[in-house]
Amino acid sequence: MTDPIAPAAPSAPVAEAAEVLRARLGTRLPRTALILGSGLGDLVHYIEDPVQVPYRELPGFPPSAVAGHAGRVVAGRLAGAQVLAFAGRVHLYEGHAAATVALPVRLAHAVGARVLVVSNAAGGIRRTLRPGDLMLIRDHINLTGRNPLVGPVRDGETRFPDMSAPYDAELLLLLREAALAVGVPVVEGVYVAVLGPSYETPAEIRMLERLGADAVGMSTVPEVIAARALGMRVAGVSCITNPAAGIAAAPLSHADVLATSARVADAFVRLMTDFVRRLPR
Ligand code: HPA
Repeated sequence: MTDPIAPAAPSAPVAEAAEVLRARLGTRLPRTALILGSGLGDLVHYIEDPVQVPYRELPGFPPSAVAGHAGRVVAGRLAGAQVLAFAGRVHLYEGHAAATVALPVRLAHAVGARVLVVSNAAGGIRRTLRPGDLMLIRDHINLTGRNPLVGPVRDGETRFPDMSAPYDAELLLLLREAALAVGVPVVEGVYVAVLGPSYETPAEIRMLERLGADAVGMSTVPEVIAARALGMRVAGVSCITNPAAGIAAAPLSHADVLATSARVADAFVRLMTDFVRRLPR
C-alpha cells in the first residue's frame, strides 16, 4: 500500500504530460480550463474544431474507472474562446494521491490556462436545495484530509497560498450574469469535500450543516487548491443531484446522481457557454 498522504511529486510528471499535450494542441492554446463533473461531460460536444487526447496518452494520468467519467482532454473553441476541457476526473476515493487528482490543473496551467472552471455533482445539505439546482460555489470546506500541495513546493507554486478568496468574485459575477442571460436559475453556496466513496450518514450531514456547508461532494477541492497555489482564477458550479443523506427519505445511489446531472446537462451547457463568452480575452 502506498501512503496516500506521502509527497507525490514523482507521480505528477507535469512537464512530460504538458509536452505531449502541447504537441497535440497546435494553435489551440487555452486561457480557460474546464473540469467537468459526473454527468456534465456533454459540454465537450459543443467544443468546435476539437482535438481529443485520451488520458491514457498523457504521462502520469491514471485511467478513470467511474461510470460517467470518460477520461479525455478536449481542446478547441467554445463561444469563441480557446478552452481545454477535462471530461472525467480522477478522485481521491479511487486511491489516488491528491497530487494526481490535481494533475489536470497543473497541466492546464503548464499549457497556458489562467482560469479554472470546476464542476461537480453534489448532495444538497441546505434544505431549500432541490435535485437539478445549479449552485455557484462561493467557498469550500476541505474535509478530505488531503492536500495536493503536500510535499516539495512545485515550480510556480507558493508554499502557503492564501485561501481567503478561493473563488474569484469577478468570475462569480460573470456566472450570475450568464445565468440571468440564458434564463438558468442558480443559487449560491458553500461546497464541502469529503473523501468518500461511501455517502454520508444522516448524522454526518447534520454535522456538515452546522459547519456551514450547503452541498457535499467527493471532488473539486484538491483541484481548486492547486489552482490557487498557481495563481489561477477559479469559478465553480455544483449540480445538486440529490438531497443529502437524511434530508429526504430515499437512499442515495450513483445511478440517481448521474440521472439528475444528465437532466441538468443542457442548462449547464447553456450556462457555461454564455459564461465563457463573457470571460476577458
Ligand atoms: N454526497 C457526496 N457526494 C455526492 C453526493 C452526496 O450526497 N451526491 C453527489 N455526489
